[in-house]
Amino acid sequence: MSDLYAVFGNPVAHSKSPLIHAAFAAATGQDLTYEARLAPVDGFARAVADFVAVGGKGANVTVPFKEEAFRLSGSLSERAARAGAVNTLVFRDGAIFGDNTDGAGLVRDITHNLGFSLAGKHILLLGAGGAARGVIAPLLGERPAALRIVNRSAGKATDLAAAFSDLAAEQGVAIDAGSFEATAGQAFDVVINATSASLSGSGLPLPAAIFAPGSLAYDMMYGKGETPFLGQARAQGAAHLADGLGMLAEQAAEAFFVWRGLRPQTATLLAELRRTTGA
Ligand code: ATR
Repeated sequence: MSDLYAVFGNPVAHSKSPLIHAAFAAATGQDLTYEARLAPVDGFARAVADFVAVGGKGANVTVPFKEEAFRLSGSLSERAARAGAVNTLVFRDGAIFGDNTDGAGLVRDITHNLGFSLAGKHILLLGAGGAARGVIAPLLGERPAALRIVNRSAGKATDLAAAFSDLAAEQGVAIDAGSFEATAGQAFDVVINATSASLSGSGLPLPAAIFAPGSLAYDMMYGKGETPFLGQARAQGAAHLADGLGMLAEQAAEAFFVWRGLRPQTATLLAELRRTTGA
């Protein structure tokens, strides 16, 4: 019988993870089954226990269960502990190990797929929710010169910067935080949108002149056509634009690696995803 994996979410029917992991399994010759499992909003732990009981070896976790998966994990990777959220679970010998591959996926997409080194760069991270928190440690690991976090509610950005100040100091990265308005007049090499503003189709209050020459605007969201943030970035002169489809493929490849010890290639899959989503 093939090894069993799943993605848990609510809703989950839209998830591309089953398609992605089926493609990875086929490409690497791994015998596994991967399915989408809808968990009740108040029944995540039970749904996971049921899955383990039928032999589940591992799972991905998506909205709204990443924080609950963090609490459910008996042990955590360093990056998951830092993120305060788990998107990848491993079930082994009656124990649950929690990992978070989102930040690694973002970094790999930027550095490997887009060929954009982050070392020594000035990075602006927009947002201070779970999505932002999940990528900070891996971004710091690339040793940029500076990381600034801005958020609509500026206090949340300040709290987040404080929570990572020890790690930033360790990596020699200047970390700070503030409001959108207080960022006017500063230019960045990479501007990453980790807010959920695109979900409501709204743009962000981007100050003028935040895009340095040759800069990359990266939206962790993706969708049909250009996201509102990338439209704004284009209008403000960002040299390179990227949506989050590459991050989606890379976080999945990293989860596959955690489970199977093999890292699948993502280029063919990414081209296929782009064709089918129209992104
Ligand atoms: P996620 O897990 O996707 O990060 P979240 O924790 O609810 O979701 O965080 C959403 C983020 O998007 C927050 O940074 C939020 O800003 P606030 O903390 O000020 O609420 C940001 N956000 C959502 N809609 C926004 C909008 N229209 N303009 C600016 N920021 C927005």
